[in-house]
Amino acid sequence: MKKSVYAVSAFALCVAGAVHAEPQAEVLHYWTSGGEAKSVAVLQEEFAANGGTWTDMPVAGGGGDAAGTALRARVLSGNAPTAAQIKGPAIQEWYEEGVLADISAVAEENGWADVLPASIASHMQCEGTWCAAPVNVHRVDWIWANADVLAANDITMPTTWEEFNAAAEKLQAAGIIPLAHGGQAWQDATVFEAVALGLLGPDGFRKAFVELDQDALTSDEMIAVFDQMRVLRGYVDPNFPGRDWNLATAMVMNGEAAFQVMGDWAKGEFLAAGKTPGEDFLCASTPGEGFLYNVDSFAMFDVDGDDKKAGQALLAELIVGTKFQEVFNLNKGSIPARVDVALDAFDSCAVLSAEDMNASSEGGSLLPSYAHGMALRGAQSGAITDVVTSHFNSDMSSEEAVQQLASAVLNSL
Ligand code: GAL
Repeated sequence: MKKSVYAVSAFALCVAGAVHAEPQAEVLHYWTSGGEAKSVAVLQEEFAANGGTWTDMPVAGGGGDAAGTALRARVLSGNAPTAAQIKGPAIQEWYEEGVLADISAVAEENGWADVLPASIASHMQCEGTWCAAPVNVHRVDWIWANADVLAANDITMPTTWEEFNAAAEKLQAAGIIPLAHGGQAWQDATVFEAVALGLLGPDGFRKAFVELDQDALTSDEMIAVFDQMRVLRGYVDPNFPGRDWNLATAMVMNGEAAFQVMGDWAKGEFLAAGKTPGEDFLCASTPGEGFLYNVDSFAMFDVDGDDKKAGQALLAELIVGTKFQEVFNLNKGSIPARVDVALDAFDSCAVLSAEDMNASSEGGSLLPSYAHGMALRGAQSGAITDVVTSHFNSDMSSEEAVQQLASAVLNSL
């Protein structure tokens, strides 16, 4: 396996005599919604405040599929960006292509190993070197709700899918859209994995979507997951196909819909609109035990030029710095990746997320999100999502879905 051959660090630049390098970075990312843009602006501003020149390369499209396509085109044409939003096993895939920069010197100078949980640090390392900088911890398995709509209909946040379905029936009868949803494959996958965690349990989820165990993929419990997805399909409005996730969040915000099942980047939209958790909107984990984590990160590419290498060193240092970890995550809806950032300024949803993450970590139910690229490499996660979205958008039976799921996974290996 090829290893990237150059290290990025202030020390390396000094030795190279490039002490006067002016940090530059072209950064490819997909944070273009209201809350996302406000969050990434924190990094841009901090980078500039430290003498950096940031060239923004936003690629719209929630979930990052479009950004991944754009990144591959850039790298294959020999024109890689300085840095890109890459996470999970995709980091290893890019490393294996031999195109990533080694940021170990920055990580070691700043003691990342001492302040990052092992589960996060492991995603950021490539054959013992540091190859990405973690930004946050998003939780995927959340239900968001309009507080007034629930109160007006005498509904409390559901703790089981049966309770959710009963609430949805009541809301639908009252003429309210029960579930705000965007009909994009990654959003179908997001809802699916939240349901799967609850109905399969943490061990069942791990067997199915981390270990790709064929029996788990075709179990009666997996059939029940698709059954529940069919029920949820009946609670979305006719205009859901193609809707962007943040527009679904807006439907909950304005009371047009009651619930959204989405990661806590949705909280970033509520906060950007000036909404208050516990008053305007409610948050609760989706029914069942466990915590699906989604850690955003940036990887640096093997580019030429001392200014770009200085830009990479500065970016990596800022991203894992305590100031950015607090300010960015306050806006993004996530919690800091660092364990030593106080949550005093964070809201009740963030505190709940941190508490549940710690409890899940201790209880063995802290799991990588499959839908958001943390559990599997692209071929496998894509194969699963293709079946999930095909089922959600057709009248495919649950029995057929699990058979297609098992064979799609086998064919992707
Ligand atoms: C996720 C990403 C989040 C959020 C979301 C919607 O994959 O990790 O940071 O941006 O997509 O775009």
